[in-house]
Amino acid sequence: VRRLEVKASTGAGFYPVHIGAGALDKLPLFVAGKVLAVVDSRVPTLPELGEVPAVRLQAGEEAKTLAGLERVLDAFGSAELDRDSTVLAVGGGTVGDLAGFAASIWHRGIAVVQVPTTLLAMVDSAIGGKTGINSSRAKNAIGTFWPPRAVLADTRYLATLPADEEANGWAEIVKYAVTFDPSLSEAVDLEEVIERCVRIKGEIVAADERETAREGGRVLLNYGHTVGHALEAVTGFRISHGRAVAWGMRVAAAISAQLGEASPGLMERQDALLSVRGLPGPRPEVDLDAVLAATRRDKKVRGGRQTWVLLRDLGRPLTTREVPDEQVSAALAEILHG
Ligand SMILES: NC(=O)c1ccc[n+]([C@@H]2O[C@H](COP(=O)([O-])OP(=O)(O)OC[C@H]3O[C@@H](n4cnc5c(N)ncnc54)[C@H](O)[C@@H]3O)[C@@H](O)[C@H]2O)c1
Repeated sequence: VRRLEVKASTGAGFYPVHIGAGALDKLPLFVAGKVLAVVDSRVPTLPELGEVPAVRLQAGEEAKTLAGLERVLDAFGSAELDRDSTVLAVGGGTVGDLAGFAASIWHRGIAVVQVPTTLLAMVDSAIGGKTGINSSRAKNAIGTFWPPRAVLADTRYLATLPADEEANGWAEIVKYAVTFDPSLSEAVDLEEVIERCVRIKGEIVAADERETAREGGRVLLNYGHTVGHALEAVTGFRISHGRAVAWGMRVAAAISAQLGEASPGLMERQDALLSVRGLPGPRPEVDLDAVLAATRRDKKVRGGRQTWVLLRDLGRPLTTREVPDEQVSAALAEILHG
């Protein structure tokens, strides 16, 4: 088991992240007072959690709602959690976001230990302190910054993860590789891969927790996500997040090339990294105008202008607000209809 200290927060200092088969052994170090685990009902119970009181729920975006929040807060009430209690969030990103949010508002904030059980949650959502639920209109519209007391990424959980969910995690890992650390793609040991992703995200978040940097910063983590989110929206979420982001990464690379920013062969090199993980998968059948319109509703639009994350080369991202719609349309056509 690897142990690292991550300063994935500007205010709260460092928190430990344990990664590997058996990371849950460390749980006693991080619980105090009454404990309640909020657990994804699909996740098998590992022995270390056998005795811990738990509320089990069905994961997914439907859980990340005000109604889902109410159920979790009711469970906190029944368990009589007080200010000194500890919540364990055991599940993928949806359970982590929901339970983390509930912990952040219970008695104005009680401790949460994140126990991510999907690859995506281990490399991404459990790190960085963003918590939240969806509003009736928008994903993640209601939330807080609430860094965990610790993150225990026990890779034994991954044994039961469905292949599509694994691909979602790999899409984010390839994203880290092409934006920040190309050599990450050569790492063979999964624990090492997770550790390196956690370090990258930690550094970025520590420098720009609230995504206020004008250049670079946390927004760089959104590489591929502008078109990715648009594809999820126009397909009614029939495409998985990871595949949508992978297509979005290809569109971003095409825009980078059309603007003359990309080094030669960048698309091919990115494609090689994606294809090792079976990404992006089948081309989604979509109306390009609808995709373009959906990118304009992205939450990174400020003052009517979209912030695009593009690439100069592997490991050299840039942000720009100067991408004309015609360029986006051309790149969408090249990648999605080409
Ligand atoms: N807070 C952040 O910084 C942040 C970052 C990225 C994503 N997110 C959020 O994370 C969510 C996506 O996370 P996710 O992909 O983990 O989704 P998820 O929580 O819905 O989990 C995906 C699926 O895998 C199942 N599952 C989880 N662990 C399993 C296991 N060990 N074995 C078998 N099945 C298992 C779940 O029941 C679910 O069906 C989104 O809501 C997104 O908004 C948050």
